[in-house]
Amino acid sequence: MKVLVTGGCGFIGSNFIRYFLKFHPDDSVINVDKLTYAGNLENLSELSHSPLYQFIKGDITDAPRVQDLVSMGVDAVINFAAESHVDRSIEDPSAFVKTNVFGTFVLLEAVRKFSPKQEIRFLQVSTDEVYGSLGETGAFTEQTPLAPNSPYSASKTAADMMVRAYHRTYGLPALITRCSNNFGPYQFPEKLIPLMISNAIEAQDLPIYGDGMHIRDWIYVEDHCCALDAVLRHGREGEVYNIGGGSEMPNLSVAKAILDRLGRPHSLLRFVTDRPGHDRRYAIDFSKIERELGWKPSVSFEEGIALTVDWYLAHREWWKKIKTGEYLTYYDRMYKNRPLPPPCREEKAGVE
Ligand code: NAD
Ligand code: TYD
Repeated sequence: MKVLVTGGCGFIGSNFIRYFLKFHPDDSVINVDKLTYAGNLENLSELSHSPLYQFIKGDITDAPRVQDLVSMGVDAVINFAAESHVDRSIEDPSAFVKTNVFGTFVLLEAVRKFSPKQEIRFLQVSTDEVYGSLGETGAFTEQTPLAPNSPYSASKTAADMMVRAYHRTYGLPALITRCSNNFGPYQFPEKLIPLMISNAIEAQDLPIYGDGMHIRDWIYVEDHCCALDAVLRHGREGEVYNIGGGSEMPNLSVAKAILDRLGRPHSLLRFVTDRPGHDRRYAIDFSKIERELGWKPSVSFEEGIALTVDWYLAHREWWKKIKTGEYLTYYDRMYKNRPLPPPCREEKAGVE
């Protein structure tokens, strides 16, 4: 199988390519990536001489370029390419609309135009955030109505709807996965877990939004890659598959687990003004993929966080290089102007 991966120099895409080539040594990958601030060639440097791997710098919104790529005899397209950070989407949604919505449309169009010559399976890598926010109980199923709350999740929802329409209207063999929050090696340190780990290693404050009681379901990235591989090969066309880690945790507990693992004091926790429109709770019902494809997560949060902390300890040069230049400007913008909300939140939330 020859697969066109988009956004393969980012966090999940690079882990997926590594996984895919490791477990399918007869298959090959073309990786097209724009190399935005989140794309990093170092994430796949060990594959740079592999005959089964080809990197092409390119933008998924560039229609002629995408048509050329799709016509390189690929059997499938997996679309990871996206602007992926909620806080950045709040600051400026335009790149999110362009890449996540228009870019997905460009890919679909290229596949549709090429499909009379060869059938190409299309896998859209989406997110549980399209379902919006849950109350204290329940979990998202594939039937949960879509109700996105951030510009990021709205752009991913729009893309999902376009994928659905291309399947219904043109019979494109498309599938959608919706996964919960990933963590693991090579995640850009603007996301909660790598930000907390790298700050804790450097004995810097860990910024906690609001009361820290927002709940996410955490999945180790390799488990997500395994699920994507199963959906790509065996998923039913036109279907949506939820993917989850079965590890619901409030952000404060995640941050404390990281500090404990690194032997750092809880006094590094710093409560900051909440994110606007902050979804309170995500939880995933992944019984469909388990029933149909026999997939379930295999790495517990405790095992995954140990592996991840060890990876960030062993790869300081990787994230220290990122935490310079544009990143520092971003970090100042994000965190320096967020005052501590009175009265003392730490006592309320039970921080020792
Ligand atoms: P990331 O930000 O780490 O990587 C995104 C990659 O896409 C980068 O390499 C970037 O250079 C590339 N890219 C951006 N715009 C592009 C464009 N116009 N053309 C070509 N390449 C472009 O993101 P990630 O965390 O690896 O997420 C990958 C996908 O998985 C995204 O679609 C995201 O919505 C989805 N997802 C992420 C999570 C998560 O927890 N991170 C959970 C569920 C779903
Ligand atoms: P994030 O990693 O940005 O993923 P998402 O918003 O897509 O779920 O954030 C995960 C959770 O952590 C979310 O509830 C916001 C919170 N958070 C903090 O409390 N502090 C931070 O510095 C960051 C980046 C996130």
